[in-house]
Amino acid sequence: MRFTGKRAVVTGAASGIGRATALRLADEGAAVIAADIDEAAGAALADASEGRIAFRRCDVTQPEEIEALMAAADAAGGLDCLVNNAGAGGSRERIDAISAEEWDRTHALLLRSVALGIRYAAPLMTKRGGGAIVNTASIAAFQSGAAPIAYSVAKAGVLHLSLVAAAELAQHNIRVNAVAPGFITTNIFTSALGVSGAAQRQANAVIAGAAAKAQPIARAGRPEDIAGAIAYLLSDDAGFVTGTHILVDGGMAVGPRHSWDPGSPGIFDMIGKAAGL
Ligand code: NAI
Repeated sequence: MRFTGKRAVVTGAASGIGRATALRLADEGAAVIAADIDEAAGAALADASEGRIAFRRCDVTQPEEIEALMAAADAAGGLDCLVNNAGAGGSRERIDAISAEEWDRTHALLLRSVALGIRYAAPLMTKRGGGAIVNTASIAAFQSGAAPIAYSVAKAGVLHLSLVAAAELAQHNIRVNAVAPGFITTNIFTSALGVSGAAQRQANAVIAGAAAKAQPIARAGRPEDIAGAIAYLLSDDAGFVTGTHILVDGGMAVGPRHSWDPGSPGIFDMIGKAAGL
């Protein structure tokens, strides 16, 4: 019960990582405002929470909606914890084809939203004597190939934003950190492909099967894996932790696949085969 008496806002809370985080914080005693554009799923989450989670519609690409979300949190009693988590795949264009509009659309959703979430939450936290913020980055912030370029660069920006904001806000006793998920089975992949309803559930099940083999730890990454790391970073257990990130990826970033997958050919296997040795 690390969040008893605490008040939290989680964006992108109607699904996946945000939903699991809202539930985790509520389970540990927080009063949570779950924000999202998916009103049906957000309302269902609030209904199932027995009063611990309130839903509020907020499109994080709209600065005035972020400001209104934080004002609502203030009116409801203040703000101790913020999770800037809302996101989607963004533009899938490569660097030699993407338009300025697509770049800006993706960055408004994935990077500017995080900056403005911090912008409008910080004064509320300062008023209360401090607070904690966690921003959802991605393994795509560290490497190519995990996601399209506009998404990957925005997530790298989320990491650096977290670092610099931590420096600026330390004087107000506000900690800022990031979590970088690996491959987590949520709706994000099928939503990016425009699949919904029963077809989405079916495709998600297939993706979950494949996800078990995507990294050294031989099971699919779950939203709860990320929620646990976020809860740690928000809690007093992390009271001396700021300006950094936790990579929660099942080991995906440890190195090339052949270093951990006995079924994958290593460099010498490939050279030997090519040279007939
Ligand atoms: P998800 O699709 O299950 O949940 C994302 C939520 O964000 C949805 O409820 C959606 O309605 C909401 N959302 C989208 N646009 C919004 C907007 N403009 N305003 C407010 N809410 C909006 O996806 P998931 O995986 O839970 O994603 C959460 C975060 O985790 C995202 O920032 C994503 O980039 C990040 N992430 C996810 C990974 C994964 O493998 N699932 C890996 C690395 C990072």
